[in-house]
Amino acid sequence: MAVAVEIVKSLPRTVDAVGVPVGTTGPVARSLGMSRAVLAAHGFEGKVGQTLVLPAASGATQIAIGIGDQNELSATTLRTVAAALVRAAGKRATVASTLADLEGVDAKTAGQAISEGALLASYRYLGLKTDRSGASSLTTLSLVAGEKRQAGVKAGAERGTITAAAASLARDLANTPPAYLTPRKLAERAVEVANATGLGVEVFNKDQLQAMGCGGIVGVNQGSVEPPRMVRLTYAPKNPTGHLVLVGKGITYDSGGISLKPSDAMHAKMKMDMSGAAAVLGAMSTLKALKVKAAVTAYLMCTENLPSGSAFKLGDVLTFRNGKTAEIHNTDAEGRLVLADGLALGVEAKPDAIVDIATLTGAVLAALGPRIAGVLGNDQPFLDRVKDAAARSDESIWQLPLAKEYRKFLDSNVADMKNVGGPYGGAITAALFLSEFVGDVPWAHLDIAGTMDVDADEGWLSKGATGFGTRTLIELAAGFSA
Ligand code: BES
Ligand code: MN
Ligand code: ZN
Repeated sequence: MAVAVEIVKSLPRTVDAVGVPVGTTGPVARSLGMSRAVLAAHGFEGKVGQTLVLPAASGATQIAIGIGDQNELSATTLRTVAAALVRAAGKRATVASTLADLEGVDAKTAGQAISEGALLASYRYLGLKTDRSGASSLTTLSLVAGEKRQAGVKAGAERGTITAAAASLARDLANTPPAYLTPRKLAERAVEVANATGLGVEVFNKDQLQAMGCGGIVGVNQGSVEPPRMVRLTYAPKNPTGHLVLVGKGITYDSGGISLKPSDAMHAKMKMDMSGAAAVLGAMSTLKALKVKAAVTAYLMCTENLPSGSAFKLGDVLTFRNGKTAEIHNTDAEGRLVLADGLALGVEAKPDAIVDIATLTGAVLAALGPRIAGVLGNDQPFLDRVKDAAARSDESIWQLPLAKEYRKFLDSNVADMKNVGGPYGGAITAALFLSEFVGDVPWAHLDIAGTMDVDADEGWLSKGATGFGTRTLIELAAGFSA
């Protein structure tokens, strides 16, 4: 059920709940009918994301929403506060707030951040539940904006509705059980999305990939009954400001292959090993609607990774699209093998920059934990642009070094490299492997293995797949020029 964000001149009379912003200092809105002391006595101090639902005998429920220090108001705060409001509103269908009218954040940025926070917090994956009662009840969010801010808040809300829908699409795909999202189904979905959002799309099957020399994706696919798919999506506006290539890891299920993963809880999460491809598809779906001026080409590298009598083996050597070879020492390091072909193809398109996004290594989770993704690359100015885009999206990323001195860990006796670099620095050696396929094109690699999901609702993150990276990629593409 899609939530409508509408912009209004004053608080509507007939809403179920009204979110009233309260800072940690300064006056408390009269309409709440409570002093700061009384609010504090109920444990509400106005800290960012705090909420207090005030029981109402009749009419709209007032919800005090903490915005922290008014002087430090930011888009990040507004996104968090809007999410908290939606969660506090519970089963109420219509919610209104003056949140977008606060000074300190420009109207458009505020409209976007609030819409994103509200819509992403009301996201639920119901999947195959026969009981649909867990769905969010929110139907309408009314944002009050004064004359001066009306147009800006409206434009921002439209943008936020688009970016939140894109992240929700990525979440839906990653949450989908692996039998319901095989590589063929993922490609079908990509075609539907492309057709609905004005993108060019081509799907490549196993024979075509083989003929193209894409030995990485074909090799990883060898153990599966389900065939692989590569999807190329194109967005080509007139007189583009530049050309960006995106490559997404689309492993619809990662069992580890012959190097089988242990059967623990982590194994069940491996349906989400296509989160990179999902983020890329989500981002691509917005480009036309957002009138992005750069050309963007995307490659979704889709296959399962399963063990069987036909599976690729340890000691096998695969040859990639760019002619390089890799000796397989662990079939569970499969993501880099499919990305290798995607990056090589992307580079052939002579882009101004290339980004890959992948649930690539457990090592990045060990290094940065569950809320921060890793970023590595070969060009600092471009990496800085990616970091800016991530910061604006409130998707935390932290740069790790592309340490050339670790390249020797990948040395092989029989091929150009091994596909694993030993026990330490796994996120770095994985990136060094990928760097063999980008030539001298400015490149950034996002390792989202740690951030692909959350165990419980938290702010605008809803339990399950996060859609991490979708909004960063949108931001990056929207501001991109050669
Ligand atoms: N898809 C996994 C990485 C992953 C781990 C994603 C945890 C999400 C959560 C990847 O294909 C993988 O198995 N990586 C191995 C690489 C190793 C064999 C060098 C890993 O991290 O253990
Ligand atoms: Mn793996
Ligand atoms: Zn994987």
